[in-house]
Amino acid sequence: MITIKSDREIQLMKEAGRITAYAHQKVKEAIKPGISTFELDKIAYNAIISQGAIPSFLNYNGYPASICASINEVVVHGIPNKKTILKNGDIISIDIGAIYHGYHGDAARTHFVGEVKDDIKRLVEITKESFFEGLKFAKPGNRLSDISHAIGTYAESFGYGVVKDFTGHGIGRNLHEDPAIPNYGEAGHGPILKKGMTLAIEPMINLGTYRVKVLNDGWTTITQDKLPSAHYENTIVITETGYEILTKYEGEKLDV
Ligand code: MF3
Ligand code: CO
Repeated sequence: MITIKSDREIQLMKEAGRITAYAHQKVKEAIKPGISTFELDKIAYNAIISQGAIPSFLNYNGYPASICASINEVVVHGIPNKKTILKNGDIISIDIGAIYHGYHGDAARTHFVGEVKDDIKRLVEITKESFFEGLKFAKPGNRLSDISHAIGTYAESFGYGVVKDFTGHGIGRNLHEDPAIPNYGEAGHGPILKKGMTLAIEPMINLGTYRVKVLNDGWTTITQDKLPSAHYENTIVITETGYEILTKYEGEKLDV
């Protein structure tokens, strides 16, 4: 069942989104060669707690940290670790969620560590752009898969692999609610978008094959060909005329 949020609930989700984005900003400022993903996790935890919120991911289905920190061929759900140290030329996807007064925000960004090769830079930029291609269809009356189709066809037009084993999702009182939001598929299918739906849209795009595998820790997901992968996510609300992005920080330039 897709829940429609009231104005009061949307206010709380805006606050959850603001806090999620604030934690992202703090982590971004700390990203440099030599820092561990464990340290980045601590920074996010402290940022979220300082704002009166709780990390959404900590203990979610047994997940042991506040953020996912996924480097290079890690697609999603990289577990922060003292031994995982950023180095020049890496890309790192940071995924953060925060619960505020019972409502979740969820967002991911992929960052460059030092100097990154042009083809990998382009993957990161196109992944972000694919999100905004999908967002063009986020308005009442459109079908959910109009968003999915726009994301997938845009990314595939560059020859990239669109991850199929993970999707975006509805969000609200729960981190994951209906509907699932694939990043591929035909247009014109699925639920009709309505004002008050809150959605986490999150393309995961690979430089090579779309195929992924989950490692033995049950979380870390990597590309089968070990080529890099990028991730970009925001929580949005469908409004009367279109959408509003809930997970952005003051001054962040989002549009591309
Ligand atoms: N943004 C991811 C998602 O929507 C992060 C979940 S990580 C988990 O699924 F640990 F919380 F599962
Ligand atoms: Co998500």
